[in-house]
Amino acid sequence: MALLTKAIKGTRDVLPKDVHKNQYIEATALDIAEKFGYKEIRTPVFEHTELFQRGVGDTTDVVQKEMYTFDDKGGRSITLRPEGTAGAVRSYLENGLCNEALPQKVCYLTSCYRYEKPQAGRLREFHQFGVECFGTASPLADAELISLAKSIFDTLGVNDLSLEINSIGCPTCRTEYHKALKEYFSSRKDELCETCQDRLDRNPMRILDCKSPICSEIAKNAPVVTDYLCDECRQHFDKVQEYLKTMNIEFSINSKIVRGLDYYTKTVFEFVSNSIGAQGTVCGGGRYDGLVDELGGPKTPSLGFAMGLERLMLVMEAQNAPFPEANAPDLFVVAMGDKATLKAVEIVKDMRAEGFTALMDLNQRSLRAQMKYADKLNSKFTIVIGDNEVNDGIAKLKNMKTGEETEIALTTFVSGFYNISLSEQLADLEINGEEIDFGSLFGLNNEEN
Ligand code: HAM
Repeated sequence: MALLTKAIKGTRDVLPKDVHKNQYIEATALDIAEKFGYKEIRTPVFEHTELFQRGVGDTTDVVQKEMYTFDDKGGRSITLRPEGTAGAVRSYLENGLCNEALPQKVCYLTSCYRYEKPQAGRLREFHQFGVECFGTASPLADAELISLAKSIFDTLGVNDLSLEINSIGCPTCRTEYHKALKEYFSSRKDELCETCQDRLDRNPMRILDCKSPICSEIAKNAPVVTDYLCDECRQHFDKVQEYLKTMNIEFSINSKIVRGLDYYTKTVFEFVSNSIGAQGTVCGGGRYDGLVDELGGPKTPSLGFAMGLERLMLVMEAQNAPFPEANAPDLFVVAMGDKATLKAVEIVKDMRAEGFTALMDLNQRSLRAQMKYADKLNSKFTIVIGDNEVNDGIAKLKNMKTGEETEIALTTFVSGFYNISLSEQLADLEINGEEIDFGSLFGLNNEEN
């Protein structure tokens, strides 16, 4: 029975009292991405397993150990998406976006699923905001992508993230690098975990990303990829750095960043926080010039990133970054008796049609209970109506913050409410502690105008 009221390990609920924070982060990310030309794409939560095996790479931890894979009733192997890029590329190809003007820029807010050991900042169901830019080989695109992520963090008031970048080269320079890695790790093959022993032949770079303590200790002194870059990759990396400097974006080069997914080429980067513990990478991404053709499309140099929204929230909370207040109801109509209840139904309907948040008691409780409820909901204004108010067509609107009451006609309730609430909001506004004289601000008292 206890199972019924216990969420699955590594999953979390977002409660109504907190959801405005998530909505704020999501709306900010979408809004800024739009300013950079990114339009939202929505893809299914599950895809054919082969898409991730091919796309993310079958020597990665994600594919080998962490995917939620199952056979559906038709016997197909299905996987809950562990990340957003493979699905976005699949959709890009399937829906012919590759035939539209390039680069195509898409962004997404998605849930992702990885069977990892849950800890602070590491969940089995987590959420990403990600972007993908298809069809540009220019290093300017790499720098613009990074500046987009940075803009989102800046707008949210997140200031303790450091940007680390690296280049992991292309298949040409990778051949030489793989050779060097194989040589290095072969001498300590017996100490590597079983998975990494297998990776040694197939994809030695993956050993650098293994989470086993022995493998990561051995990996510490492994050859670094930047020593093996070909001329083209070196020049590309230099240009990215030059653009970042022009954009005044601070970064450091961390030649240990190889990323945990196989599709990357050239530039890779991470935004890392020191304030949320071991799982400090809030955002990761880079270029993947070979993925679109690997999945059957035309050769399409591309790049993208994804930020973990739970980690971003942790960083914002750790830093006391500002969040907007949760929305409170504009009006709560307290109705006593049948006639008043019908009038209240009318008022809340009209108010909602005008864009206000207006509530009434569905349980038709006592006056006291309704007032208490309105107060608990943080209502900005209340109005109490009974038979007398309905007969007279007038009631008292109460400002719940100041306690002030103003008579208001029920026949013209919505416009009356609008005027009262607006004038009270304006009266609350101050600039540098001084009340504002709105008349002079808009030139209303100035006879010459
Ligand atoms: P990733 O580095 O695997 O990259 O994940 C991106 C971000 O998702 C991480 O930096 C982290 O903030 C968050 N994240 C990953 N795993 C978890 C988890 N178990 N719990 C909570 N948060 C997590 C990708 O997924 C690539 N698709 C990014 C990309 C897009 N590259 C190019 N385009």
